[in-house]
This record gives sequence, C-alpha cells and structure tokens, in this order.
Amino acid sequence: MDAGSAVMSPEIVYLNGEFIAAAAAKISVFDRGFLFGDSVYEVIPYYRGVGFRLAEHLVRLRHSLEAIRIPADLDWPALLDELVARNGGGNLSVYLQVSRGSAGRRTQVYDGSLQPTVFACCTPIRDIYASGADSVQGYRVIVTADLRWHRCDIKATGLLPNILVLQQAKEAGADEALMIRDGLLTEGGSSNLFMVKNGVLYTPKLGSEILGGTTRDLVLTLAREAGIPYQETDLTYEQLLAADEVWISSSTRAVVPVLEVDGQPIADGQKGPLWRRMFELFTHLQHRLMTGE
Ligand code: PDD
Repeated sequence: MDAGSAVMSPEIVYLNGEFIAAAAAKISVFDRGFLFGDSVYEVIPYYRGVGFRLAEHLVRLRHSLEAIRIPADLDWPALLDELVARNGGGNLSVYLQVSRGSAGRRTQVYDGSLQPTVFACCTPIRDIYASGADSVQGYRVIVTADLRWHRCDIKATGLLPNILVLQQAKEAGADEALMIRDGLLTEGGSSNLFMVKNGVLYTPKLGSEILGGTTRDLVLTLAREAGIPYQETDLTYEQLLAADEVWISSSTRAVVPVLEVDGQPIADGQKGPLWRRMFELFTHLQHRLMTGE
C-alpha cells in the first residue's frame, strides 16, 4: 500500500491562497459560480503524487478561462502539486474550479475588477496503470438528446444537462449517457466517444459541440504511434450500433469498453481486441511516466 491509498478522504483543500481543512472552506453566497455557474473547472489525475498530462489540462484551463474572460493566472502546477502533497500524495484526482468571483450582490453583468475565486480539492482514484484489462468493467450506455449549449469546448461548471443525462443513465441501469445532436453523436455526459469498424478507430471531430478531452487526445496520439488508423469524423446512431467496438475516455477512467448500447450488445458484447491493445498502450505509458521505468 502506498502513502496515498491510506488517505481515504483527503481533507485539505485550496481556497483563494490558503490550504485549509475542507470544513473550514467558505465562499460568499454571492459568488458568481454559485449564482450563475459563471466558472470553469478541470479534473486532473495524479498517480503516485505526479500529475498525469498536467500540461495538457492547463492548456485547456487557459482556453476555458480566456473563452469566458476570467483573468486568473496562478502558478497552477505549484498550487496543485502542493495540494496533492498535503493530502498524502498517491493516486488522487484533483478538482480545480475558478469562478469569476463575487460582487457582493446578484447582478448578471460584471465589471473586470472582480477577484476570481479559486478552489481545489482531491479525491482518491484507482491506479489504472497497475491493473490489467480483465479487471476493467465494461460499460452499458444509453443514447439521449444533447441539450447543451454550443460552447461545449469550454469546460464550464454549468453541468445541468450533463447531470440530467447521467442521472437518466443511472436510472436505466447504465454507466454513461452518450449524447446526440442533429443526428450526430457528440460525446458522453462526462467522457469522449470512440468506435471501431473494420480496424479503423473513429471519434467525433473537435469543435464547439464537444469537449477536447485530454484522454481523447492521448488515445489518438497512441493510435498514431502504434500505426492504428483513425479518423475524426461525424458518427451516427446507426454506425454506433453496427460498430465492432465502442469505447469512452476520460481522465479518471482512461479508456473503457462499452459492451451495450440502449440494451443492445456491441458486436459479441465482449471487450474488443483493439480496446485491449489501446488499454495496454495507455497503461504502459502511464506506468512509464509515473515510475520512470
Ligand atoms: N469529465 N467530455 C466531457 C463532457 C467531460 O466532462 C469529460 C471529462 C471529457 C473527457 O475529458 P478528459 O479526457 O480531459 O478528462 C469529455 C471530467 C472527468 C469530469 O467532469 O469529472
């Protein structure tokens, strides 16, 4: 057991310049993150106390902050590394949220003088790099309407549409909800989508309808390096049901095989060979980055 796995519920959070006990962390009821969802966030995995794809997450954070014009530029790596260390290191997922701050009253429009609210906390996660493909639980998913706005490239905390579809999935006994807009699949409620047909890997192309997932990007890089052909393209529900394999990807779950869509098995309903290969490539890279071996 490493130091991190002994910490079941990390209690130290970061709030506006201080590392304090979670119970002592307080923000204003007029914070615009609370009132309007006027804020953005990141979820970054740390394995053995080391940030995984931290630089890529911070590029996306900057994109989100600039897109909604929140002027926050802290030394993010130092801040997050210290938070993880103060929570015992190990395998943790770090949540970082930056809101526009509080004007001390409720008003939709804002002026540029507000001090952003910066909050970060961590939760224990599985050491995916240390587990084998057989230990990964395949997913069942539903497909439902994408009710979100048209700036899904911004990782904004206004997640009500995502929450509604994820709850819908849960109530249907599924693990994730894939969303569809204008006849095209976009992504999962909290993940990106991949499918395999005849040896080619497909994923919806980047744009304002989906989040540019850091894991999505890594999967495509690994595919390129391994000579696995891939295409970023439009995907329909019919193509999904006829796929040889379907996967979802996210920072905290890496790449997960989808075995069933809307109650119908994908191919033979088993984890596919290309997923096993990608899982191998992925966890190998994680292991190498974390241990230097
Ligand atoms: N979600 N698409 C959506 C809508 C997401 O919320 C996420 C991640 C992803 C995958 O992005 P990445 O590979 O960078 O984690 C795609 C995080 C984990 C969350 O909201 O908790």
